[in-house]
Amino acid sequence: MPKDPDIDLATHTGSGPRHVAIIMDGNGRWAEAKGRPRLFGHHAGARRVREVVEACPDLNIKYLTIFAFSTENWKRTQTEVAGLMSLFRRYISKETRALAARNVRVRFIGDRVRLDKKLTVLMDQLEQETEPMDGVNLTIALNYGGRDEVARATKRLAMDVANGTLDPMDVNEETLPRYLDTHVLPDPDLVIRTSGEARISNFLLWQSAYAEYEFIDTLWPDFTAAELGELCTNYGSRDRRFGAVKT
Ligand code: FPP
Repeated sequence: MPKDPDIDLATHTGSGPRHVAIIMDGNGRWAEAKGRPRLFGHHAGARRVREVVEACPDLNIKYLTIFAFSTENWKRTQTEVAGLMSLFRRYISKETRALAARNVRVRFIGDRVRLDKKLTVLMDQLEQETEPMDGVNLTIALNYGGRDEVARATKRLAMDVANGTLDPMDVNEETLPRYLDTHVLPDPDLVIRTSGEARISNFLLWQSAYAEYEFIDTLWPDFTAAELGELCTNYGSRDRRFGAVKT
């Protein structure tokens, strides 16, 4: 699978994270605390996405990946799932121009097969319209699950072995990730989960092997650009050794 030639995976200056990935949790509890329906919280959460994306250039964050809907989220009530799908459609229609104007390139990861056609058409359009942008790379994980991604990647890899384009002896840590949805992205440096839960819930399992984690109590609709800035500063003081010993 070819690498995207537009993306420079090798260079990053500064001590902050180049790639931040966020599990945006706590919308439901935020709404319930206010006596409002859960979808009210998701709408407030969507507004936070805008603020966080806008903060990225100043923080030198070149890649932002957000977990919008997991392969497990289908287990929620029909009302909540339908409300979220409608929110995604609205968000894409409403934000396309603003994202392009801010030089944001948007990509989606996850399995599109189960998604509504109206939504996937909008996703395709947003990807196409922002393709020339070279500022922040925003990746939205929608119907995404890390295990599902690895299973789909393995299927494609097996097909390449079967049709003779990949030698099984060449399957290794370099070649396998080329089949992942994230094949054009660098691995996340910092993974943030809001709302006080300390688990990764099937998010970027392969890619986060050496990421730093921040589990914070703030509910996603209360998360601010200032808080993101603090987390980036904390990250700068961490000593990432990737399994090696400091010399
Ligand atoms: C988890 O909170 C959040 C979600 C499953 C949905 C995330 C979606 C958004 C932030 C909406 C906007 C996104 C985009 C890209 C427009 P939860 O419902 O599990 O909260 P709880 O744990 O308090 O119940």
